[in-house]
Amino acid sequence: MPTAPPPQFPAGFRWGVSTSAYQIEGAVAEDGRGTSIWDTFAHSPGRVADGSTGDVACDHYHRHREDVALLAGLGVTAYRFSVAWPRIQPAGTGPANPAGLDFYDRLVDDLLAAGVDPVATLYHWDLPQPLEDAGGWLARDAAERFAAYADLVAARLGDRVKLWITLNEPFVHMSLGYGTGEHAPGRTLLFDAFPVAHHQLLGHGLAVAALRARTAGPVAIANNYSPVRVLGDTDADRAAGAAYEALHNRLFTDPLLGRGYPDGTLADPSVVRDGDLATIAAPIDVLGVNYYNPTGVRAPAEGSPLPFELAPVEGYPRTAFDWPVAPDGLRELLGWLRGTYGDALPPVEITESGCAYDDRPGPDGRVHDPERIAYLDGHLRAVRAALDDGVDVRGYFVWSLLDNWEWAEGFTKRFGLVHVDYATQARTPKSSYAWLRDTIAATRGEPAR
Ligand code: BGC
Repeated sequence: MPTAPPPQFPAGFRWGVSTSAYQIEGAVAEDGRGTSIWDTFAHSPGRVADGSTGDVACDHYHRHREDVALLAGLGVTAYRFSVAWPRIQPAGTGPANPAGLDFYDRLVDDLLAAGVDPVATLYHWDLPQPLEDAGGWLARDAAERFAAYADLVAARLGDRVKLWITLNEPFVHMSLGYGTGEHAPGRTLLFDAFPVAHHQLLGHGLAVAALRARTAGPVAIANNYSPVRVLGDTDADRAAGAAYEALHNRLFTDPLLGRGYPDGTLADPSVVRDGDLATIAAPIDVLGVNYYNPTGVRAPAEGSPLPFELAPVEGYPRTAFDWPVAPDGLRELLGWLRGTYGDALPPVEITESGCAYDDRPGPDGRVHDPERIAYLDGHLRAVRAALDDGVDVRGYFVWSLLDNWEWAEGFTKRFGLVHVDYATQARTPKSSYAWLRDTIAATRGEPAR
């Protein structure tokens, strides 16, 4: 258990937790919801480690009031959830399904009544299947469709959502979804997946315009970043590090911040039409940063199809995902963003930060997760250090409120501050929940409960 008092954060610093629709909602066939690429993928044999699906997940669709009460008890000032596109447009096009919007309308009102600001992500990887059948994000049309969907959501929720996030982790969606096939839609195009980068970014830019036309609320995107640790000291190792940094950290940031694509990253520049880069570079109010761990990179073996080789970063404790617990990487990353983009960098919020451990109730029925407490303590101190370094960080969202359905890992990885028994749907706050509640209260000058 950390013993030093928690660092202080500026007044108004946003404290939040994040979730996503398919990982918690369940109710996949209710109230007119259509099928998404994740429904199809999860139901395909061999795709998910434990053979599970998100059909029920945490049953949040029916239990959202209980989950809002958990948020209120935690004392967070914001909750980042995602809107399931197939609930709003079951086929990915056409008018809104009112029942789908109603669900998020109720959620937003319940959050506001509990004193929690709604932060809505429009796309957390659940593309309506009919759009995938028409080419998915490889097709330019997906960008236009996404903006039309954003307009429908903003028309209904735009008066109450406090921060909009267009896309979640477009890099992961491109690389695992279309590059290597570990995620939905399961395509294995490697570098031929690059149109997916451009069309997602174009969709983001068009959605920013749609949101601006409907609401005065601030707009962001949530990118994932990983500081690159070059393993080895040859020129080839350093070149591999630079190639990976361009792909993972700059491909989705340089164009957003007006620099166009980093050299060499866009395998097929013909997908970029006149005016696209200006659309993509529409000013955003916040850059969402999802951070989990640094990446070790070295020169590839001869004959490798990739310009780099990834290798484990040693010297840190590890999570159940075998990811290194490296809070120093978060400070390094925030410094890198500031150093690389200078005054073009908008204020930053950490939109995801968290860890999976094999948490289970003890004989006393409680769930003790000291590793998660140490993880959060370390990462909050890293954010504080980055503030001291001069980076304008305005918020920190823990991934995640609940143990949930972790994509290709199914139910085998638990990221929650709250334990979920998937057989009964019983929610049990872990010791990290109490720790975070007291930490937030302390940084806001309130006595611990
Ligand atoms: C995603 C989440 C995921 C988390 C942990 C992020 O890449 O946005 O949906 O659960 O990482 O893997």
